[in-house]
Amino acid sequence: MRGGAIAGVFVLLLPIFFASLFSHASPTILKDLNAPKFRHSRLAKSALLRQTSNEEQSELWTPLAHQGWKPCTESDGASTVPEKSEGYVQVFLDGGLNQQRMGICDAVVVAKILNATLVIPQLEVNPVWQDSSSFMDIFDVDHFINVLKDDVSIVKELPDEFSWSTREYYGTAIRPTRIKTAPVHASANWYLENVSPVLQSYGIAAIAPFSHRLTFDNMPKYLQHLRCKVNFQALAFVPHVRHLGDALINRLRNPPSEGNMVSNNYLREVTDLKPKQGAGKFAVLHLRFDKDMAAHSACDFGGGKAENLALAKYRQVIWGGRVINSQFTDEELRSQGRCPLTPEEVGLLLAALGFDNSTRLYLASHKVYGGERRISALRNLFPLMEDKKSLASSEERALIKGKASLLAAVDYYVGMHSDIFVSASPGNMHNAMVGHRTYNNMKTIRPNMALLGQLFLNKTLTWPEFQESVVEGHKNRQGQIRLRKPKQSLYTYPATEILMVLRLPYRSVLFGPQIIVYYAYIM
Ligand SMILES: *[C@@H]1O[C@H](CO)[C@@H](O)[C@H](O)[C@H]1NC(C)=O
Ligand SMILES: *[C@@H]1O[C@H](CO)[C@@H](O)[C@H](O)[C@H]1NC(C)=O
Ligand SMILES: *[C@@H]1O[C@H](CO)[C@@H](O)[C@H](O)[C@H]1NC(C)=O
Repeated sequence: MRGGAIAGVFVLLLPIFFASLFSHASPTILKDLNAPKFRHSRLAKSALLRQTSNEEQSELWTPLAHQGWKPCTESDGASTVPEKSEGYVQVFLDGGLNQQRMGICDAVVVAKILNATLVIPQLEVNPVWQDSSSFMDIFDVDHFINVLKDDVSIVKELPDEFSWSTREYYGTAIRPTRIKTAPVHASANWYLENVSPVLQSYGIAAIAPFSHRLTFDNMPKYLQHLRCKVNFQALAFVPHVRHLGDALINRLRNPPSEGNMVSNNYLREVTDLKPKQGAGKFAVLHLRFDKDMAAHSACDFGGGKAENLALAKYRQVIWGGRVINSQFTDEELRSQGRCPLTPEEVGLLLAALGFDNSTRLYLASHKVYGGERRISALRNLFPLMEDKKSLASSEERALIKGKASLLAAVDYYVGMHSDIFVSASPGNMHNAMVGHRTYNNMKTIRPNMALLGQLFLNKTLTWPEFQESVVEGHKNRQGQIRLRKPKQSLYTYPATEILMVLRLPYRSVLFGPQIIVYYAYIM
């Protein structure tokens, strides 16, 4: 069933599995751990001594100004459930949590297109993430069905007469109810032409593979709105994920030391009239720097011969050496922004952007290639860095332990509640978060990889020069609305279809219809 997985997507899925092969016990790991602590030691030294003004801090933590967009909640009369269902649509979703999330949204829309009843999507066990959690283990299924009840009919399970339609059934032979040939980004018409007849004949159609099988372009508006409704309203995590997330958020906003200070140092607290900027706020850093990514990028991460050899060997084993980047030099790759940022480089970026050493930084991450030795470069700059483990007890984490999708769900939840979200590398989590936070108009910093690559190559750059370039190069990368271009994902770029220009009355009087042009222009 995974035969159709696109190579590019697959690459994004590989990480943790291989990272975990190289855990502490293996002797080969010793070489991997030779990562240098500071590769950009000159900049890092200055960064450690950085001073940030109150003004800088205040600007950094100020929420995004309203950009004149609001979620489109217009009803166009199309959201009614058809009186008679044409049959059942079943999908099997592969990938990690965030890829499955997009598949769920698309599945609802496909059921809508076909006037069919959707069976709660089945989540495949991914060979990389190894989590067998079902939809109901991750998402609040009753909330899901209820929010969509006026749009699409959804059932938790197939009725008995169709109980034969299982993964095993499709895995053992060619079956007429299996739709195997959906092209990537198939149109609504493709489903009407190819799936409707199957529904009519059998009353059921099982679509697999289904990831990325519905186009983003030339879709009727009401279907795009439905996609948005699923993604941003219907999909809520199960209560225990939300409760753990809330506990983490609460601890990030109210660190114990500050609480103690209030009681122990009451007088000081009272006389300190100027509250610290950024107090009670926190940022989430999604750091993806695993062996898979490091090897695939074919960049040099400063771990010397041993590391370069280990990564080259890995490329050979996993991709047979067929990695496009390996034909370029490290310098070329860096200046094109094609090298993932190391924890140290992310740290320097954040320091340059004005995050001081009292920043509450939540690390949303799985294993980091090079382990604590690499992370320590980041921790030096941000001593108050936290993660699930440092903030919650083992008992509190019992229900999510070892479950990649639930761990990712908690990170997603905390990420959605952070004052600032930064993703150190592109990928499914980054895209999902950028889209969702755009929808809520929240600050999200997107690193300018090409700029950073060039700055890190320059060995004579001073800290003030570095900082100035970084600040300048990230002015427009903090959550400003970007319109979706053809082929781009609606889930990453919800503007225009999902968000609509908010027409304030007085502006309409002043500018009339030009306001649309105006907002499109400032993006
Ligand atoms: C779905 O139902 C609507 C009316 O409820 C109808 O206009 C449309 O043709 C139907 N489509 C299919 C594929 O059955
Ligand atoms: C932050 O840096 C200042 C000096 O710039 C230092 O005095 C202070 O101890 C540092 N705080 C932490 C938590 O490391
Ligand atoms: C490094 O940066 C400095 C200061 O901006 C600049 O003068 C110099 O030309 C840069 N060097 C390279 C190799 O780009």
